[in-house]
Amino acid sequence: MSNYHIKHLEEYYQVYRKSVRNPENFWDEIAEEHFVWRKKWDRVLDWDFSKPEIKWFQGAKLNITENCIDRHLHIRGDKTAILFEPNNPDEPARHITYLELKERVCKMANVLKDKGINKGDRVVIYLPMIPELAVALLACARIGAVHSVVFAGFSSTAVATRVNDCGAKMVITSDGSYRGKKTIDLKGIVDDAMDACPDVKNVLVVKRTNADIFMKEGRDEWLAPLMLAAKEDCLPEIMDAEDPLFILYTSGSTGKPKGMVHTTAGYMVYTAYTFKNVFQYRENDIYWCTADIGWITGHSYIVYGPLANGATTVMFEGVPSYPDFGRFWDVVQKHKVTQFYTAPTAIRALAKEHLDFVNSHDLSSLKVLGTVGEPINEEAWHWYNDHVGDKKCPIVDTWWQTETGGILISPIPFSTPTKPTYATLPLPGIQPALMDEHGTEITGNQVDGRLCIKFPWPSMARTIWGDHQRYKETYFTAFKDKYFTGDGALRDEVGYYRITGRVDDVIIVSGHNLGTAPIEDAINEHPAVAESAIVGFPHDIKGNALYGYVMLKETGESRDRDNLKKEINQMITEHIGPIAKLEKIQFVSALPKTRSGKIMRRILRKIASKDTSNLGDTSTLLNPEVVSEIIKEVL
Ligand code: WTA
Repeated sequence: MSNYHIKHLEEYYQVYRKSVRNPENFWDEIAEEHFVWRKKWDRVLDWDFSKPEIKWFQGAKLNITENCIDRHLHIRGDKTAILFEPNNPDEPARHITYLELKERVCKMANVLKDKGINKGDRVVIYLPMIPELAVALLACARIGAVHSVVFAGFSSTAVATRVNDCGAKMVITSDGSYRGKKTIDLKGIVDDAMDACPDVKNVLVVKRTNADIFMKEGRDEWLAPLMLAAKEDCLPEIMDAEDPLFILYTSGSTGKPKGMVHTTAGYMVYTAYTFKNVFQYRENDIYWCTADIGWITGHSYIVYGPLANGATTVMFEGVPSYPDFGRFWDVVQKHKVTQFYTAPTAIRALAKEHLDFVNSHDLSSLKVLGTVGEPINEEAWHWYNDHVGDKKCPIVDTWWQTETGGILISPIPFSTPTKPTYATLPLPGIQPALMDEHGTEITGNQVDGRLCIKFPWPSMARTIWGDHQRYKETYFTAFKDKYFTGDGALRDEVGYYRITGRVDDVIIVSGHNLGTAPIEDAINEHPAVAESAIVGFPHDIKGNALYGYVMLKETGESRDRDNLKKEINQMITEHIGPIAKLEKIQFVSALPKTRSGKIMRRILRKIASKDTSNLGDTSTLLNPEVVSEIIKEVL
């Protein structure tokens, strides 16, 4: 049992050594002792990173919702599973018990079945942070349908691209969503998307804002009456360990978004295990992760990980600034939250506001604080530690990715001494490696390199939906027989890891991954634009912001620049969503290029960061003169 719940540093090292010496035994024991299976596996692991092919718990049969719901009912039926805190603080919070969750999930599962959704079918979910979102995920899992949640801040084009890429037959959405003072017309966005999605047969609509919306005859239906009429029992579909559980899209450095495919058994085992350890979860804790379920953090650490442990998981519909900047702390106080998990960008934004917003609340229930999504800077770390944690709550700086399914590098609270800006040590079963540019592993400490993982772990994504070749090229080709993360990292004198950031063309803005190529593609569709290049530059609150270098066509030269900037951002909002808007736009006469025609982003990045002292050798460029031209305009 001690394998499962690590309580001090020595134990961590013991468990870690064991997990690396014999990973199969390690995961075999954990899977055996802590989950319910309809049939046990024949083999713990089969893997070959050169194909790549990864299979965990082959031969096992299970349903993840039995593990997240049914098995808890006899001891935790009346315990709150989901604690819903609405956007408006005057609207009462809702406690959904495990028993109620089971009924709702079963009812929705029956609705999906009635609409012809079968095992293996894909369902796109485009919902705000309301309980139906979690219920929809679990309802899909109940019947073996593959859910693909699209973050409800993405545009209609982005919705359509994802729906078509995964071939979804159904979309679940709502009449609208609340975000602070704003309401957003989600259904309108879906309607626009559906013009480009001929294969979607049904759109189910959750009522949330009571907006007066268009319902298309024969396609759109309100969910509530269907749920009312549905049976409250639904036998779980028995799934194979490696059956897909969900697809979640993430940005790549090039081309269309990548539909990362996560499978059932390994994902369940790993998210449950890491939830228990990284948050030192104990029965009756109130755990709150502020992420949106539209991202992997919400999938793994709002829904599956916590529920597999029988936890109470808070779902927050609102934003940190509404009705004021004390909202997070108000919710912590109100629900006596014990673990609080958020993003560095939120911490930075709140740290800018008056300390009274924090100090006027009783945060003494907190035991563990967490961060995720991007590197946390030292200042934000200390503010979080001093003012939120009162120096008593360990901060878990958790490093992981959509692709990894669960947290890979993180302190274990009360075991691993924390160090600001360091994600610290690999969790059991995780074998990191730092690589140099020639593909050689860099051993020893006080080194830095490209972060790879040498050995499979249960929750790694198994493929990219419909494009296994791209999966191979993106993650398994740069370094032989290793999973390449796309991040750079350093290892300090005691072996702690610090993630330094992306080494590819993905830019993390407010914790959201954005690929440069799709944004450039969107801009280039503007009739006045000839070419563009996007880079990131440091931003106080967002971590990084986007800087666009835009070259106009001759016809665009006479246009008003301020209007053009607005139109360009409008194009981006339409194609991707407001999160990808450019902070700064500079019109240039040309982009610096290599002789082979590649845009020199390294130089553009330096200029955007106002770091022009050492641009390196520009003489080999095709057009070195544009560099000085661009610099002159910036300064
Ligand atoms: C970055 C989010 C530094 C990293 C779970 C990674 C981090 C990308 C951290 C994945 C962290 C995530 N410190 N950087 N603690 N956590 N990242 O797919 O660059 O949205 O590759 O998954 O976020 O972002 P994703």
